Amino acid sequence: MASPHRANVLVASNRGPVSYSLDEDGGLEAKRGGGGLVSGLSAIGADADSLWVCAALGDGDREAVRRGVGETGVRMLDIDASVHAAAYNGIANSVLWFVHHMLYQTPLEPVFDAEFRQQWEDFRTYNRAFADALAAEAADGASVLVQDYHLALVPGMLRELRPDLRIGHFSHTPWAPVDYFRLLPDDIGEELLRGILGADRAAFLTRRWADAFTGCCAEVLGGTGSTAIGVHGLGADADFLRARSHEKDVDGRMAELREQIGGSGDRRTIVRVDRTELSKNIVRGLLAYRELLDTRPEWRGRVVHIALAYPSRQDLTVYRDYMAEVRRVADEINSRYGSADWTPVVMHLKDDFARSLAAYRLADVALVNPIRDGMNLVAKEVPVVSDLGCALVLSREAGAYEELGRDAVTVNPYDVSGTAAALHEALTMPDAERAERTERLAAAATALPPQQWFIDQLHALAGATD
Ligand code: F6P
Repeated sequence: MASPHRANVLVASNRGPVSYSLDEDGGLEAKRGGGGLVSGLSAIGADADSLWVCAALGDGDREAVRRGVGETGVRMLDIDASVHAAAYNGIANSVLWFVHHMLYQTPLEPVFDAEFRQQWEDFRTYNRAFADALAAEAADGASVLVQDYHLALVPGMLRELRPDLRIGHFSHTPWAPVDYFRLLPDDIGEELLRGILGADRAAFLTRRWADAFTGCCAEVLGGTGSTAIGVHGLGADADFLRARSHEKDVDGRMAELREQIGGSGDRRTIVRVDRTELSKNIVRGLLAYRELLDTRPEWRGRVVHIALAYPSRQDLTVYRDYMAEVRRVADEINSRYGSADWTPVVMHLKDDFARSLAAYRLADVALVNPIRDGMNLVAKEVPVVSDLGCALVLSREAGAYEELGRDAVTVNPYDVSGTAAALHEALTMPDAERAERTERLAAAATALPPQQWFIDQLHALAGATD
């Protein structure tokens, strides 16, 4: 049933801007998330008649929906938990994420069998729930911005329900090259592409991912039809980051990290900050650091690798195993090289934004070496926040490479020896050069702040259907 006040601008994403947890007494605690979309949406202000439609993700969220607790401007969908699990863990994160990031070990996977078909049905049901909610909540001619691979079928479904709407789809991931995309069963690949092409406009973080998408459409469907294709390279939020990184808790975290780094203030730091995500390539990053210590003994005792690796998608065995491997390799380096007054790898596994900012501020080198990444905002945030300038070691497979590659030390993420050499180059970069490059990196990284990124999409969407 339609709400009495229908929205003119709607955003749809699996994860919403707020989440709820149940405390011991059965009370609900709300936690607001961050990220580009949250600050992007703030650009249109509270009175713009906007609505964010998202899924209830855990027991706390579901309880909030049942109790009617919620924030103005946010509607959480209480989709059956087993349907959501199959759609999110089974299809979105285990199939679509793997395809776009090219993560399969192909001799044994993927296997598209009867179980997969069942999960695909659930994926359709989950997408249908979003399409129905958006159709009910949208005012005549409203703009709807659908986010990411989780909701790839929504534009097509919504178009059928509400031909009057302006529909955009935005992919925050890379897009697979056609030969890899074709791992998917033919009918599923077609359904996915047609789902997104239900939008008036399909947008991506870089030209490379947009081209891969149009390449798939050309090969599989013969073209993109009337759907416009756009590129919006989400940038870092400079004002927010600069202010937040000078709050008191960040100073406290810096003091803690300095103590863990040890030495007399002359040790260099290599910093990485990621979700413990298969595509982030944390293990090869550690192996490269180990090779640096192996092959260039002069760095022993003179450098510390600060690796902040926060838990992610822990419902999936492969992510839990990956996290264990990250710890194992870090421990192995520490026991091989560590001494009473030097811990070569300082690792933190608990998500702590203030500590991330503290690490950004004191980093001499930032290591961003993903196998494949839609953008990678860490690469954009570090140069903005850095106190004294930071050399960026950057994978050429990160979306951010398109804008930052010129002033980074670039690496092939699979080349561990090459990455070790890049770390050495970054560690020995002259101070003046490092400072100059950081300045240029920060300018490029902040070229399109989240609010402008969001507004540009709304404007372009209006143009796409005029
Ligand atoms: O596009 C990738 C993305 O959806 C990002 O928006 C976010 O950083 C990440 O994946 C988080 O994934 P999840 O919601 O599964 O924790």
